[in-house]
Amino acid sequence: MLGPVPDEDRTRTPARRLLEPSRLGGSARRAVLRARWALEDRRLTAEQRREELGPAHLRWRGNSSRENRQRWDGWDWSSRGEEWNASPEWKQALIDDVLDRWMPAGGAILEIGPGGGRWSEPLLARAARLVLVDVSERPLALCKERFAAGENVEFVLSGGADIPGVAYASIDAVWSFDVFVHVAPVDQAGYMREIARVLVPGGVAVIHHSDGRNRGLAPSRQGWRSPMSRGLFASLARASGLRVERQLDSWGPDGRYDLSAYADVISVCRAERPRVGGTQASLP
Ligand SMILES: C[S@@+](CC[C@H](N)C(=O)[O-])C[C@H]1O[C@@H](n2cnc3c(N)ncnc32)[C@H](O)[C@@H]1O
Repeated sequence: MLGPVPDEDRTRTPARRLLEPSRLGGSARRAVLRARWALEDRRLTAEQRREELGPAHLRWRGNSSRENRQRWDGWDWSSRGEEWNASPEWKQALIDDVLDRWMPAGGAILEIGPGGGRWSEPLLARAARLVLVDVSERPLALCKERFAAGENVEFVLSGGADIPGVAYASIDAVWSFDVFVHVAPVDQAGYMREIARVLVPGGVAVIHHSDGRNRGLAPSRQGWRSPMSRGLFASLARASGLRVERQLDSWGPDGRYDLSAYADVISVCRAERPRVGGTQASLP
């Protein structure tokens, strides 16, 4: 489905090479970078309007699994990610209204990108089996230490878009928060196919991801946001055999808690149940 990505250097004209930011100094360099980013964001936005994983998304070089591994292996995890909560009430309401609502008590739950275990702890309180999947070794090592007593916790090192060693239709629910916003679009598409593979029919995935470019209080690049939108994500989900049940960007009483810093969204996707008496179209 994904065509070859053109080598940017081969498509660059001599004039474009002269304007290479690395050849310029100070304010000229910043001006060229800003112009390049503005053009890139316009192309991404156009593809997102068409809900298309097109050339601008496929060429996106940031948020690679290598970059993620470097960043999060070197992160200071002493606060276990709790520093990213807007407030204790924001976190508790997300657990009460979203996590507890869709993560089934007593189920097999898989979390992508547990970090310091900020959400793994409430997930473990509900799960009969908890599978923690991360691209970086250090978060997995920290979670091993933190949840050492739990015999029902498994740890999986991912290549960045896969869920190796987890069997087909063995997971009731998938949770991922503050992860897909940093994962390259092509890897998000890979994970959607993997999520569809591991979920039982009727199983659910709750995934936090970006929703457009520069729509929040801060610019997307400041938050190291990977390009995605709710429409494009829904089309990736559908292409993988998942149905989008809901997309939400606020929760709590009167929707008072939200993701407005970068205007992200949470998508709730459901693995289709085979039709009774019909064909099992989405099952391999
Ligand atoms: C910002 S931290 C969030 C940690 C945790 N989910 C939280 O909300 O506190 C991002 C986490 O996602 C992991 N991660 C980044 N890219 C990933 C990928 N492609 N596949 C799996 N995990 C990834 C990082 O290693 C890190 O543990």
